[in-house]
Amino acid sequence: MSSELSALVPVLFGHATFQQLNAGCELGLFELLDTDGPLPAGTVAETLGLSRRSTDILLLGTTALGLTEVAGGEYRNGAPVAAVFRHGLWPVLRDIVQYQDRIAYLPAADYVESLRTGENVGIRHFPGTTRDLYSRLAAVPGLEELFYRGMHAWSQLSNPVLLAQHDLARARRVLDVGGGDAVNAVALARAHPSLRVTVLDRPGALEVARKTIAEAGLEDRVETYPADIFADPYPPGHDCVLFAHQLVIWSPEQNLALLRKAYDALDPEGRVLVFNAFTDDDRTGPLYAALDNVYFTTLPFRHSTIYRWADCEQWLREAGFTDVGRTAASGWTPHGVVSGRRPA
Ligand SMILES: C[S@@+](CC[C@H](N)C(=O)[O-])C[C@H]1O[C@@H](n2cnc3c(N)ncnc32)[C@H](O)[C@@H]1O
Repeated sequence: MSSELSALVPVLFGHATFQQLNAGCELGLFELLDTDGPLPAGTVAETLGLSRRSTDILLLGTTALGLTEVAGGEYRNGAPVAAVFRHGLWPVLRDIVQYQDRIAYLPAADYVESLRTGENVGIRHFPGTTRDLYSRLAAVPGLEELFYRGMHAWSQLSNPVLLAQHDLARARRVLDVGGGDAVNAVALARAHPSLRVTVLDRPGALEVARKTIAEAGLEDRVETYPADIFADPYPPGHDCVLFAHQLVIWSPEQNLALLRKAYDALDPEGRVLVFNAFTDDDRTGPLYAALDNVYFTTLPFRHSTIYRWADCEQWLREAGFTDVGRTAASGWTPHGVVSGRRPA
């Protein structure tokens, strides 16, 4: 029985598990061990400016979790953290951890109340009276920047499956609905040198987007279009409409409305692409989607959730799209693309 019950440890202390990772990031432990490791605890304490007691507590936590390793009294990064550095993903992981810490963490404590009421109760942590997180971002200085730095990292981590879509190799002009800071628009324009992209979003998001586009030197091929995704018409002349990390926010009815708008805006033979994480059709996982759903339940909007692949495919068919298909990513996140064609 005791070994069965030990599976409860990382669950019971889930909040503490994240805080060990967060502390290792914030205090500079992993960066130090990457550049100078292996190091004895005393040198870690001295270099990080921590007491020996704090250092021992932190190293115990990170080592027990496999985030660091010790041999002969010297510490180095553990396999998952070392792999993040080796693949050049450290800035991406650091921004994602910061997003979890500063945006998702406190609202997650409102999970029970959110399930009870069916409301995104965690939004109370951000000032405002509107019911979705995005329209509240502008009210807190620095929040828009913090949010899009995190979203940028999530997209960068997961968008290779989108960039590899065959439909995009054939496309001429993409409308990126709710395109945020243009992370995917810029990546698409880089991957497909003759592609033009229009990023449609709120004015606040587009301020950040224009910086991303200018930094990439892509002002000639990536443009911005301020509009409300529900209330305003979509600009014509696009043969591909992309919803990236968008249909996880809204209800099935709202998603159907968005897909119908995309259908009407598309050229005949145009494609729609839905890119985000998906839940298995049999509702058994994956773990990533199951746990990320705490964020979606507590924060973005009252209907936000990671839907099943089959749900998304069904909405596309209902909106009139044909040739509906799915492509799952091969990475460690359950991202993928559901695509469809507007018949001629
Ligand atoms: C989760 S973010 C995704 C950003 C980007 N597509 C990505 O994948 O990184 C959702 C985006 O939808 C935008 N959005 C939400 N509601 C909107 C509305 N009513 N009109 C325009 N944009 C909206 C937000 O401003 C935000 O940039």
